[in-house]
Amino acid sequence: IRKAFVTGYPVKHSRSPLIHNHWLKLHGIEGSYEKVEIEPSHFSDLIKRIRNGEFIGGNVTIPHKEAAYLSADVLTDRARRLKAVNTLWMQDGKLWGDNTDIIGFTANLDQALGKDWHQDITHALVVGAGGASRAVVAGLLSYEGMQVTIINRTEEKARSLAEFNPDRISVAPWSDMARETERAGVVVNTTSLGMVGYPPLDIDFSRCGSQTIVTDIVYIPLITPMLKQAQALSLRTVDGLGMLLHQAVPGFSKWFGITPQVTPELREIILRDI
Ligand code: ATR
Repeated sequence: IRKAFVTGYPVKHSRSPLIHNHWLKLHGIEGSYEKVEIEPSHFSDLIKRIRNGEFIGGNVTIPHKEAAYLSADVLTDRARRLKAVNTLWMQDGKLWGDNTDIIGFTANLDQALGKDWHQDITHALVVGAGGASRAVVAGLLSYEGMQVTIINRTEEKARSLAEFNPDRISVAPWSDMARETERAGVVVNTTSLGMVGYPPLDIDFSRCGSQTIVTDIVYIPLITPMLKQAQALSLRTVDGLGMLLHQAVPGFSKWFGITPQVTPELREIILRDI
């Protein structure tokens, strides 16, 4: 039977097994998907276990995404651009590395809002400049004509992320949050703010147009204080759970040969667990 894994350190909080085991059962596939906790200094042992055929591949989460990037024989373009890998699989004797966070982010918006949602939007505001922000910014740049402004507590990190595509990315100071929010058609929180245990990300949406889209990549809680604020003003909101579900699709299809769907039923399964 084909075996896949999710690895991280720690990994016990991962919801990925719920997702993949749901799909395995739904499609009647004899396969498995398990958590494998590996200390950073032992990551290469796991790579050996893939190469030896014990696993067909797996998902990689914090803190191993860069080590996975360095271990792959072949990288997809998007993994190369992000210098981070979250999905590994063996193909024709070679270890492939991909980054599916970008497609997880865009597929979530496309499914929630309809795939033409971005047509009249020229400006996006991304708050945060950490690992997740890179994928979000790359996702937004995949929409033709979209300009991105990044605001981060540590402005230097935002500047370094902007080097990705200086023509289409600009950086603003935290003090410009209100102005940047007002002109953005879509606002994305990629910081830890709003997560359980963190203070909320406090943004004033009161001067935004009613078509403004507000989305968070945090999904615990599902409706963050920022999303609540936006909902109270009747703005369009998209929660972050869909990104987690959609980023899982390409891996499953590589390991098990079927492209699964992200359905309300799958969302319910994860929601029951959080
Ligand atoms: P991830 O991989 O989830 O993106 P990360 O790389 O640690 O995690 O990034 C966390 C992001 O949340 C960063 O943008 C961080 O801002 P800094 O670059 O200034 O550290 C942001 N963040 C975390 N705590 C924050 C806080 N209390 N106020 C503002 N931003 C915060």
